[in-house]
Amino acid sequence: MRLADKTLIKSVEQIVKQELAADSGGHDWFHVWRVWTMARHLQTCEGGDGLVIELAALLHDIADWKSYGGDDTVGPRKARELLESFGAGETVIVYVCEIIQHLSFKGAGVKDAMLTLEGRIVQDADRLDAIGALGVARAFAYGGASGRLAYDPAIKPVMHKNKKAYVTAKGTVINHFFEKLLLLKNRMNTKTAKKIANGRHRFLARYLDQFFAEWNGRR
Ligand code: ADP
Ligand code: NI
Repeated sequence: MRLADKTLIKSVEQIVKQELAADSGGHDWFHVWRVWTMARHLQTCEGGDGLVIELAALLHDIADWKSYGGDDTVGPRKARELLESFGAGETVIVYVCEIIQHLSFKGAGVKDAMLTLEGRIVQDADRLDAIGALGVARAFAYGGASGRLAYDPAIKPVMHKNKKAYVTAKGTVINHFFEKLLLLKNRMNTKTAKKIANGRHRFLARYLDQFFAEWNGRR
């Protein structure tokens, strides 16, 4: 990688670290750092342009559309402003912003539309961080920050058909496992991520078994 590209990545890393330091909604700097690290690993196995992958991973949660009334253009706009201010090339900016716009999960019934290998890699890295032990931790952290109950047997999981239904839902954290987390294994794009997802998925399933056993009074 060229020295100028490394410098650009370093500058973006610093600014994202500052911006997301205090986020309690599941998008803190350490989430971004893990996605960045995982995306680099996936790139070594799957290929793709390293610069685009690293920048998209670093900037993917710079503005969460769920906090802007479902507007998924805020993130790419903010990413573009930052990249322009650091003098990134237009082609790279277009690729990165396209990835950020299409990255996130928008409901069980909403199809993924990632156009590039780079995007599919960053999406896999982001989704791997939503399952396994880290996924459990993040779901409960998000649930707490957004005032959700851990579980209520009277509230049933819903397979959201569109973005609006997904973003306005007020379900429980355990329902989120059924509405999103357990579906991610089959929505991984790359072979490498599918393998990692299998192990993390099994952990989620075991966690749920234990959760319901204790809920039902296992001693
Ligand atoms: P990302 O795109 O980084 O996976 P999201 O914005 O979809 O992030 O969610 C951030 C974290 O919060 C993820 O771990 C996700 O599973 C969790 N999360 C999102 N929505 C809910 C919800 N309704 N209940 C519990 N956890 C949630
Ligand atoms: Ni993310």
